Amino acid sequence: KEFIYIDEVDSTNTYVKQNQQHFKNATVVYAERQTQGRGRLSRRWVDLEKGIKMSILLKLLLLDLEKIIPLTLFTGLVINRVLRKYGVNSFIKWSNDIYLNGKKICGILSELSGEVEGLGSIIIGIGINVNAKSVPEDIKDIATTLKAETSQDFDRTRLIIDILIEFERDLSNFDKYGFSYFRDEYKSFCINLGKEILINGERMLCRDIGENGELVCEKDGKIIEISSGEVTIRF
Ligand code: BTN
Repeated sequence: KEFIYIDEVDSTNTYVKQNQQHFKNATVVYAERQTQGRGRLSRRWVDLEKGIKMSILLKLLLLDLEKIIPLTLFTGLVINRVLRKYGVNSFIKWSNDIYLNGKKICGILSELSGEVEGLGSIIIGIGINVNAKSVPEDIKDIATTLKAETSQDFDRTRLIIDILIEFERDLSNFDKYGFSYFRDEYKSFCINLGKEILINGERMLCRDIGENGELVCEKDGKIIEISSGEVTIRF
């Protein structure tokens, strides 16, 4: 496996996208600092010191690119699982944010790219707020760090290795069975289930997580399946 360490880069996702032709499948690019870290929905990803910012490149057949959503959910589930192994009481907020004590500690940005001879790629960008003492004032109501919540320092190298091992170990199950293999585990840690949520601006009741990871909601007695969007929750 290739692991590329960079001291400073604009964004590990951008870097992988631009250089992927030179990289093998499953290459991981890690950066100590990002100057233009990107989040979902064109937002920025605030660069905190002593965090984890990395991207995994998966080269896939174009046919498989529809797996991007369940694959991203799977990645969140793996990170949640590893954090829990470390005793962290983390939860998943649909679709793939990891929360601790009601605030975000990890986000995932998956991007599709390339189209060469039937091949494409998925770049899974992972940002985890680890050992920074705190987050900047402007995001302190919505985000936090493992250190701020647990008063502990985490060994980032171990954390990365554990995440990558776990990810690789279960990827074959994902390939064979899809998201449904992980659905029960996902549901047991998903904070949205059974709650009133605001999704893409609409108020609904979150009833279930579907076979492919979609959010199954109820609105005015009707069942609505949502496969992407932003859930706003109030704790
Ligand atoms: C989100 O919750 O909005 C997703 C955040 C994803 C951040 C990571 S950090 C590593 C990778 N490179 C980026 O520019 N973004 C992702």
